[in-house]
Amino acid sequence: MDRLRINGGKRLEGVARISGAKNAALPMLAATLLADGEHTVTNVPDLADVRTMLRLLGRIGAYGERGNGRGRHRVTVEVSTDIDPVAEYDLVKTMRASVLVLGPLLARHGRARVSLPGGCAIGARPIDLHLQGLSALGANIRLAHGYVEAKARRLKGGRFVFDTVTVTGTENVLMAAVLAKGTSVLENCAREPEVVELARALVTMGARIEGIGTETMVVRGVEKDALSPMKRAICPDRIEAGTLAIATAITGGDVTLTECEPRHLDALTEKLREAGAEISSLEGSMRVKGPPRPCSVDMRTTPYPGFPTDMQAQLMALCSIANGSSVISEQVFENRFMHVSELGRMGANVRVDGHTAHVKGVERLSGAPVMATDLRASASLVLAGLRAEGSTIVQRVYHLDRGYERLEAKLRKLGADIRRLRQ
Ligand code: EPZ
Repeated sequence: MDRLRINGGKRLEGVARISGAKNAALPMLAATLLADGEHTVTNVPDLADVRTMLRLLGRIGAYGERGNGRGRHRVTVEVSTDIDPVAEYDLVKTMRASVLVLGPLLARHGRARVSLPGGCAIGARPIDLHLQGLSALGANIRLAHGYVEAKARRLKGGRFVFDTVTVTGTENVLMAAVLAKGTSVLENCAREPEVVELARALVTMGARIEGIGTETMVVRGVEKDALSPMKRAICPDRIEAGTLAIATAITGGDVTLTECEPRHLDALTEKLREAGAEISSLEGSMRVKGPPRPCSVDMRTTPYPGFPTDMQAQLMALCSIANGSSVISEQVFENRFMHVSELGRMGANVRVDGHTAHVKGVERLSGAPVMATDLRASASLVLAGLRAEGSTIVQRVYHLDRGYERLEAKLRKLGADIRRLRQ
């Protein structure tokens, strides 16, 4: 398994281009199952989870192909009627977002057999709301042998209220509603930019959706032949942008992030300014200047537009060397503090009490061998390594590779002393 070796203490300076959003690419690639023909999706990040989704689509019978060289961010997906609507456990267990094929397969082909994802490091992460939402559209759902067996001759428009805001739950039910007979009203929907991007892509394909970006979406179902193949660019990855913004802040650097959407990062920008960073944004780019030592900040994660849970671990790395104490509350997932013990090995002083972490800022961190446990925890350890004195070895970097495209290359270009040790 690959490792990353980071020799800390280097200020990051320069320009970094933000890749397409992983969490927009995954639902949009799943949405190609809603229409036959050749779909073209651009600005698709080249990272492990997208490769897994393309592998899953291929098994189902939708053949995706990525361009090469300068075209490597363009993906075409060829979808025909010859589809095998099954998502096997071996792929679903490696990537829970595989469950996103459930809604489109059910809507387009009237049946789907999708493995239950099981839990993961950050929590139980059930899909009960996905299933309840599909049932509200008339699906017949049965759980057997670790699989969801879903059937519906034709989904019918219905009303459903998500009792918890769920990103992929909203996406799954939205995609199903697009081809239902009649009108669906979906309430308490997630409003993340990636959900908005999916809805807009569906509209360009011929779907009829109102209330995009709000908590209530009204979907007027259309006939199958009303949908045409997707031709759409993926929006910039706000979590990658946020991660690089914190990398700049934690090293006291000066970095301009290009091809990003600053307005998707308002909650983080506010916290970084509170911590002493200077942030200026223009159309499509933002410049971050970090302070010599950040001030402490308090934060709680909530669904968009609040502070994103996917940035919690990264902000904690910044707070660990802040001047003062910070209180960080994780409200979305039940077990998303796996990075705390590893940060502790580097000298951070963090005490966890249920959903709240109390971070007492220390003057310096010391490099150490640490273990990545999940995607954003591994990003947090990289950020801490950029600041720490001496050498940090981050193990199990496959977690990082799931959600970031060539992160170490981007950091090295900005002046970080970071190398991948291949094994
Ligand atoms: C999406 O996961 C993201 N993944 C996650 O990003 C992100 O952390 C999460 O949304 C929250 O923003 C993708 O978009 C592919 P949820 P998702 O359903 O949809 C509970 C990353 O690092 N819930 O919004 O799986 C659930 O347990 C990943 O890129 C139910 O109870 O998250 C959680 O407590 C990690 N029943 C809360 O809702 C359900 O049926 C929010 O989860 C569904 C969810």
